[in-house]
Amino acid sequence: MSHTKDQVPPPTVRPPTAVLTRGFDPRLSVGSARPAVFRCSTYVFSSPEAAERAFAVATGRVQPEEGEAVELIYARLNHPNAEILEDQMVPLEPGAQAAVVFNSGLAAIMTAFLTFARPGDSLVYTVPLYGGTQHLIHELLEPFGIRCHAVPAGDGTALDAAIHSVQNLRLVFIETPANPTMVMTDIRRASERAAARQPRPLVLVDNTFLGPTFQHPLQLGADLVLYSATKYLSGFSDLLAGAALARDPELIRQMRLRRAIFGNILPPDECWLLDGRLPTVTLRMNRQSKNAQRIAERLVEHPQVRKVYYPTLFDDAEQIKIRLAQCHYPGAIFSMDLYGGRRAAFEFLRHLRIARNAVSLGGVETLACHPMTTTHSSLTPEELARAGITEGMVRVSVGIEDWRDLLADFQQALDAAGEACAGAAS
Ligand SMILES: Cc1ncc(COP(=O)(O)O)c(C=O)c1O
Repeated sequence: MSHTKDQVPPPTVRPPTAVLTRGFDPRLSVGSARPAVFRCSTYVFSSPEAAERAFAVATGRVQPEEGEAVELIYARLNHPNAEILEDQMVPLEPGAQAAVVFNSGLAAIMTAFLTFARPGDSLVYTVPLYGGTQHLIHELLEPFGIRCHAVPAGDGTALDAAIHSVQNLRLVFIETPANPTMVMTDIRRASERAAARQPRPLVLVDNTFLGPTFQHPLQLGADLVLYSATKYLSGFSDLLAGAALARDPELIRQMRLRRAIFGNILPPDECWLLDGRLPTVTLRMNRQSKNAQRIAERLVEHPQVRKVYYPTLFDDAEQIKIRLAQCHYPGAIFSMDLYGGRRAAFEFLRHLRIARNAVSLGGVETLACHPMTTTHSSLTPEELARAGITEGMVRVSVGIEDWRDLLADFQQALDAAGEACAGAAS
């Protein structure tokens, strides 16, 4: 029996209330005030007819009736903790009507690509992208016969032209701000361009860096929002998860059918953990963004820093316009290009005392990494150059520590990097 149908909040309820009140009916969990974990691989049917009906719905042969409580079958297809989590995610993403969860962010992205694109179709994507997504494009989509066209992030004219002219265009994939250069791409403009084409390509946005708090792609015309929920949604660097949300529940239904084939549903324990993190995502992101803005705007002045990449620090008119139009706050990730190249970047990371040298982002603790040799190490030298990922670039994900302690930590690590580079040169 679905665990999500009985308790529908009043329509006027706001997201912070909805996330705590919808999607979970205590009567289905022996009265527990928070969801139980349903660690179970298979479910007992109330009758053979109910089993037949559940299979017909789960395999996509029939659509469920409005409000119908279809019985659960088997945890690769669906389970109560996934249903609860998906229902509670929806109000956090303005414009969303449905959600589907996966066992990683990359699993969500892969499932979206393989649900909506077929061999012979084309994909247009912005670069840079998270390195794993770019790897997925080269290692899976291209050999699979999907033609993939890269466009520089933030270049509205190039993206317009690609959306207008690429043959058999099925998907437009945008990551904004881009990992790790923080360059922003205009979601509304891309969605309007896509809408002008027949058949209309779907616009997919990886919203990991600013969503669900500071950027709302579905309200800007995008069709599907994708997350590495490993990051801000979960917030403690202790689980892997992914999600997709859409205005049109049919897109989500199609992805669920693929998920059942791929077997990449988020397991019950992770669903339960993530579910408990959702009510605080906005609180955490607000604190993290304020910390990052204060730190990034001060680090610009450090003599070891060539450039800080952060939404409020771009002076290009187009980037300012995009930020004002689609980013409520600049978020908690910035990158820095250091004088002294790779050596300076490595010395900076080696000397950090509070921030940790690790990949990933979005957790309550501050992390820093060297994208060229880690997250983006699968890119070719040409791709790195085109993406603007330099030897001296470090990416920082700011946590909820006191920003003054973090700033002091970064300043002393930059000083140390400067000394090491000066020592090497002399
Ligand atoms: C922007 C972005 N999208 C997707 C992913 C992939 O997410 P996951 O590691 O949860 O598979 C990452 C991971 O770093 C990311 O930064």
